[in-house]
Amino acid sequence: MIRIGLLTSGGDCQALNATMRGVVKGLAANVDRLEVYGFMNGYKGLIYGDYRLLTAQDFSGILTRGGTIIGTSRQPFKLMREPDKNGLDKVEAMKQNYYKLRLDCLVILGGNGTQKTANLLREEGLNILHLPKTIDNDIWGTDMTFGFYSAINIATDAIDCIHTTAASHNRVFIVEIMGHKVGWLPLYAGIAGGADIILIPEIPYDINKVIEAIQARSRAGKGFTILAVAEGAISKEDAALSKKEFKKKMEERKHPSVSYELAESIQKLTGLEIRITVPGHTQRGGSPCPYDRILSTRLGSACAQLIMDGKFGYMVGIVNGKIKKIPLEESAGKLKTVPPDCQEIQEAKRIGISFGD
Ligand code: F6P
Repeated sequence: MIRIGLLTSGGDCQALNATMRGVVKGLAANVDRLEVYGFMNGYKGLIYGDYRLLTAQDFSGILTRGGTIIGTSRQPFKLMREPDKNGLDKVEAMKQNYYKLRLDCLVILGGNGTQKTANLLREEGLNILHLPKTIDNDIWGTDMTFGFYSAINIATDAIDCIHTTAASHNRVFIVEIMGHKVGWLPLYAGIAGGADIILIPEIPYDINKVIEAIQARSRAGKGFTILAVAEGAISKEDAALSKKEFKKKMEERKHPSVSYELAESIQKLTGLEIRITVPGHTQRGGSPCPYDRILSTRLGSACAQLIMDGKFGYMVGIVNGKIKKIPLEESAGKLKTVPPDCQEIQEAKRIGISFGD
C-alpha cells in the first residue's frame, strides 16, 4: 500500500488542482494499492484530523479548475509551536494524525510560510515533499512557482484595460499589483502591460523621480501615464525608517494602501488627476494559464516519481527549465527577491520605463 496525504496551505492560486492531479496521475501505475488523503483547509485539517479519502475520480477534470478542491487557510508558521486555544500542541497533533493514517508521505502545496512548517515537520521526522505555489514567485531555490504566470496574465489584462481609458481621458493611472513583499509580479505584469513607471519593493522610490517621469511624458506629448505599483512598494523615506518606526507608521496610515498614499502625493505636487485600480484577489482567481498547467503537471509528476523512489525532504522546483529536487532545509526561510540590477530591470530602463529611482 502507498498512503499519501495532500494539503494546500496559505493563499490559494491557480494550478493547485492541476498540481495535485499531476501527483496522483503520476502514481497511476500504483492505483490499486494507493490511498490518497486530502487534509481539508491546509494545516488546520492536519492538526484537527479533518481529512477525506480521495479517489482517482476526484482528480479527473480539474486541470483547468482554479482554487483548491481540498480548501486552504493561513496558519502562521510563528504560531505553530504555540498551543491552540484549548491547549492543543499543534505540531504533536499533526504528527499523530500522520502516524494514525500510516502515511508514507505528506505532499504539501504552498508558499514561503507553508514551506517553513513543511520543513519543521521534516525535522520532526515526517516524510515531506513540498510543491511551490504562489503568484508572488518568491520561493528561493526554484526559478518559477505555479500561479505566477496566470497572475501575470490577469494583472496584464488589468493594465491593458486601463490603457484605453487612460488614453481617452489623459489621466494618470495607478494599477496596484499583488506580490506581497517582492516585485516579481508587478515587474513582469508592468513590462507586459506597457506600464510607464514600475515601482517595486526592492527599489524604494523617490517621489520627485516619479513626478519627473510623468512630466517627461507630458513634455513628449503623451497625455497619460500608467504606473504599475507593487502592493509592497515603498518610498525612500519609509525604507530609511527602522522596522519599528515603519510598523508604527503603517498602523497609523490613513490610506488603505501605498497606491493611495502615492496618488495623494502626486496630486498635491502636480495637481494632476489620478485614478487607482486595484485588481486584488482577481489575480489569484480563475483558470491556470497554459504555462502553469504545464509547470504544475511536470512538478506533480516529478513529485510522484520521488514518492515511488522513497525520496523525501525536498521541494520540487524548476531550475533552467529542468525539474529539480531542492533540499527543504536549503530553501525554507529564504525569500527570492528581485535583484535591482537584474537583466529585466536593465532592459526595461533602456526602453524608458522608470522605476522611480
Ligand atoms: O501570497 C499571495 C498573496 O496573494 C500576496 O500577493 C498577497 O499579499 C497576499 O497573498 C494576500 O493575502 P490574503 O489572501 O490573506 O489577503
